[in-house]
Amino acid sequence: MNTRIAVFGTGYLGATHAACMAELGHEVLGVDVDAAKLAKLEAGEVPFYEPGLEEVLKKNVDNGRLRFTASYEEAAQFADVHFIGVGTPQKKGEFAADLTYVHSVIESLAPLLNKPSVIFGKSTVPVGTAQILGERARELAPAGDQVEVAWNPEFLREGYAVKDTLHPDRVVLGIDKTSPRRAEQVAREVYADLLDENIPFIVTDLATAELVKTAANAFLATKISFINAMAEVCEAAGADVTTLADAIGHDARIGRRFLNAGVGFGGGCLPKDIRAFMARAGEIGADEALTFLREVDNINMRRRTRMVELARNVVGGSLLGTRIAVLGAAFKPNSDDVRDSPALNIAGQIQLHGSSVNVYDPKAMDNSRKIFPTLGYSTSASEACQGADAVLVLTEWKEFRELKPAQIEKIVRGKNIIDGRNCLDPELWRSAGWNYRGLGR
Ligand code: UDX
Repeated sequence: MNTRIAVFGTGYLGATHAACMAELGHEVLGVDVDAAKLAKLEAGEVPFYEPGLEEVLKKNVDNGRLRFTASYEEAAQFADVHFIGVGTPQKKGEFAADLTYVHSVIESLAPLLNKPSVIFGKSTVPVGTAQILGERARELAPAGDQVEVAWNPEFLREGYAVKDTLHPDRVVLGIDKTSPRRAEQVAREVYADLLDENIPFIVTDLATAELVKTAANAFLATKISFINAMAEVCEAAGADVTTLADAIGHDARIGRRFLNAGVGFGGGCLPKDIRAFMARAGEIGADEALTFLREVDNINMRRRTRMVELARNVVGGSLLGTRIAVLGAAFKPNSDDVRDSPALNIAGQIQLHGSSVNVYDPKAMDNSRKIFPTLGYSTSASEACQGADAVLVLTEWKEFRELKPAQIEKIVRGKNIIDGRNCLDPELWRSAGWNYRGLGR
């Protein structure tokens, strides 16, 4: 059965969700306040780099199932199923999440709802938010109690957004257990194709659904910081964290995924989500339970400082007047996202120590220039390496993993390479006469 759906917010989450819901056969209206973004999307263009999304978007814009608008009135008339996919960034100068955009969807949409409607929240929010939004929506809506807010957290990874939306590991739905109505039935219809694939469908209360998302991200962040803490110990002991990760990863209870030591996690989700989680735990009197996340955050941020120290060491004790090549700016490969990117953050710190820094990234150049306009930018990896005293690999793009010493050894000034993602073969570089340094090996 095809449903008429409105998706509020057309960023990574919203645009992907809207396109994928159309791909499932639904009629979808994407809603945003940003006219420039809407114009691109209407033309079938994705305003950010996400492999595979443009094809799905274009196909469904062309077949008419996917449209975009800035009008809440149009959305309220068109759809009776609504998804909230707006951002919940970190508040400036605080750990807590800024819920302005989520609240503003409810404030604008609910007064226009004069028929029974289900609003599914997908944004990552502090536990307790959905309940408040539901009460507010019913208060504002002409349809009153016929309006339901349910929570359906999104677990997509950038770079795999389409696959993660159409074939997720699980679908989680939180419903208001005090007045359960149609949300579960509607979700079953919207996600019928997914449920036919036997993807686990977990129906629970609102608070649990909200917490599933924050707990998942906290666990992933902890796993990365755990291995990065082991990297610190390995460095002190002269051991190799990569072999250690392989060996402990063979234990199925531990698993090898997300055990890559390096410059740590960044992006628009993990860093701000663990902070918002700590802030919310404090508000509800459970702060002690999450004090360990502060250490997870500390270990992670320490990786960036460690990288700067290593760079200083390999160039002889002072960065002043040196040339440093930084390969990678995105927070991870296959993305042009530079939000809280360890790579760019390190590039900026090194520049502050008096280096001339040249950055190259296959996709994230424009976004990098916007937030760090004073760094040097090159049009290729080899251009960035021209005259460099040290080459830093900070995002593990395939192009950098496959880099060969011969490609750059004639153009650098010093044969120093620091592998911030442990993605290179140390023997290959050492045997070509390079001073190779990894993190934790
Ligand atoms: C993450 C979650 O994975 C996803 O489920 C959630 O919906 C949003 O947040 P994403 O931000 O796209 O997704 O990136 P992810 O692939 O999780 O990587 C996060 C960061 O951790 C990146 O900076 C990555 O480089 C780093 N990372 C990942 C490591 O440093 N080591 C690892 O082993 C894995």
